[in-house]
Amino acid sequence: MKRTLGVCYYPEHWPEAQWAEDAARMAKLGLTWVRIGEFAWSRMEPQPGRMDWDWLDRAIATLGAAGLKVVLGTPTATPPRWMLDRHPDMIAVDRDGKPRGFGSRRHYCFSHKGYLAECARIVGLMAERYGRNPHVGAWQTDNEYGCHDTTISYSKSAEAGFRDWLAQKYQSPQALNRAWGNVFWSMEYASFDEIGLPNLMVTEGNPSHLMDFRRFSSDQVVAFNRVQTDIIRRHSPCPIAHNYMGQVTEFDHFKVGADLEIASWDSYPLGFLSDRIPASPEHKRRFAHQGDPDFQAFHHDLYRAVGRGRWWIMEQQPGPVNWAPYNPDPLPGMARLWAWEAFAHGAEAVCYFRWRQAPFAQEQMHAGLLRPDSVAAPAHDEAAQVARELADMPDVDLAKADVALVFDYASDWAWQIQPQGRGFHYFWLAFHMYRGLRRLGLNVDILPPDAVDLSAYKLVLGPGLMTLSPALIKALGTCRGAALLGPRTNSKTADFAIPVPLPPNLPGLAATVLRVESLPPDMPVDLAEGGAILHWREKLETTAQVVEASTDGWPALIAAGGLHYLAGWPDDQALARMLTRLCAAQGIETDPLPEGLRRRDTKRHRFFFNYNAVPAEWGGVTIPAAGVHWTMR
Ligand code: GAL
Repeated sequence: MKRTLGVCYYPEHWPEAQWAEDAARMAKLGLTWVRIGEFAWSRMEPQPGRMDWDWLDRAIATLGAAGLKVVLGTPTATPPRWMLDRHPDMIAVDRDGKPRGFGSRRHYCFSHKGYLAECARIVGLMAERYGRNPHVGAWQTDNEYGCHDTTISYSKSAEAGFRDWLAQKYQSPQALNRAWGNVFWSMEYASFDEIGLPNLMVTEGNPSHLMDFRRFSSDQVVAFNRVQTDIIRRHSPCPIAHNYMGQVTEFDHFKVGADLEIASWDSYPLGFLSDRIPASPEHKRRFAHQGDPDFQAFHHDLYRAVGRGRWWIMEQQPGPVNWAPYNPDPLPGMARLWAWEAFAHGAEAVCYFRWRQAPFAQEQMHAGLLRPDSVAAPAHDEAAQVARELADMPDVDLAKADVALVFDYASDWAWQIQPQGRGFHYFWLAFHMYRGLRRLGLNVDILPPDAVDLSAYKLVLGPGLMTLSPALIKALGTCRGAALLGPRTNSKTADFAIPVPLPPNLPGLAATVLRVESLPPDMPVDLAEGGAILHWREKLETTAQVVEASTDGWPALIAAGGLHYLAGWPDDQALARMLTRLCAAQGIETDPLPEGLRRRDTKRHRFFFNYNAVPAEWGGVTIPAAGVHWTMR
């Protein structure tokens, strides 16, 4: 497959006289795609019902004439100011009951029916007009669902929607009362209309109530997106994408992705490291100009699964961003490395954000491929280098991975609702396992929780999965390789209760969790073979083989045949040992890499990515700081 580059562009930000030259420079740089339109509602419809498409017609024609293909974004993340006069209650409401005002973006509630109708209207007009435009090659719905904490809203519309959703799910208030256990604290309801949203309560809410609200909120995003995809498909043969974010888990991306041809995500490695990755100050310092060595790859693999194989980078960091606590400059080479790493994980396209730095408004401190004065910024030349290299590269088709990691959005909601200890965070548990595998030089596939075929894998990891579906249990049963489950796997029913028989209740594994305890970060429990259990530990009664135990004698890792259960959160040292042994037993070759160096195999190539600020020596070659190295396999 031909892999391509692109850029995000805002024709409405620049004088029309500049468009043709911009387009010519993009084409000369070697770009294929230009994403436009996703924030331009106030220019498409300056007043309610008064449409102005002429400028967009001309922008698309100008880009197309230069040989570029357009990704056309629907503008529904930025409703214009007049929209609020028409729908004053369309704004989302935060946990404290305060409306979230106009003046930035994503100022809408997914449950507001009036706003949804406005979205359907503008998307319909766009799709009719551009659905068969020869220069439009793909669509993007909205922009970054859930970004800026916008999935969950405590509005009146959400409350009404939630009551309907519950009525459909449970059919009677009595059934809901039973499922939630509302006899506890006299919480029983006589009608669905009595049920409120789970905010502004005196103390903690019922976890079943919170969990259903999280499921409902996720379903609202799915439904909102589906309104757009249904309309676009009626008018356009082009694939539809959405641009997801890093570590946004409030909606089930697998479910949104089922309605899209392509998953894409917006990769800002330095912003993410500064803003959202819990890491030691030393790690943050070491990788401040390069990004975390595993965070991007994790999302590449996750979104490859969300896109059922088809995925892009829709926005790639080109230089310093403006929105993180600290915004360092990428080391020379990183704008190239990030793109190559995405291609090695199967990205069809990598689009840089943005073409030219805007000297005005919120993102004036955010770099682009060009400076505000149109002179090339450093990433411009790195993108040009990637374009030349892509032209020379035969292909970077995916190789099969031996190892899979099951990722489940609902489990993230569950353990946010009931962490039972501050250090327990599902996303970071899954990421920790992923990092452990990558440190051993392994390719990893991420799978959804309803994966039914695990037969291709020699090792499958399923940490922290709240409820194992019957399909996954069956798939695990027929898996010929090893599986590593736990901690907390299968420890709740779908209604958010403790199941009886007690967890983990895995077919073929004689083990019961008698007791769990959570631990502060400075209270690790040592393992007999070295390393420790952190944050979370389970006391198991078992007749299965005890593979590892803690120094106080409790089983830490048990096995029955290939099925393994982990009774806690292993630290780096323990995890590396456990994974190395599991791999060895399954005949999976490992390559323990030096800090900051990562490896990725494609069908024909072996890539090395050096996230360090100094050169790395490995396998007889020197990989420059922030450098990429590949060889034929
Ligand atoms: C993304 C967003 C873009 C831009 C960018 C800045 O989250 O989709 O519109 O704001 O961040 O880094």
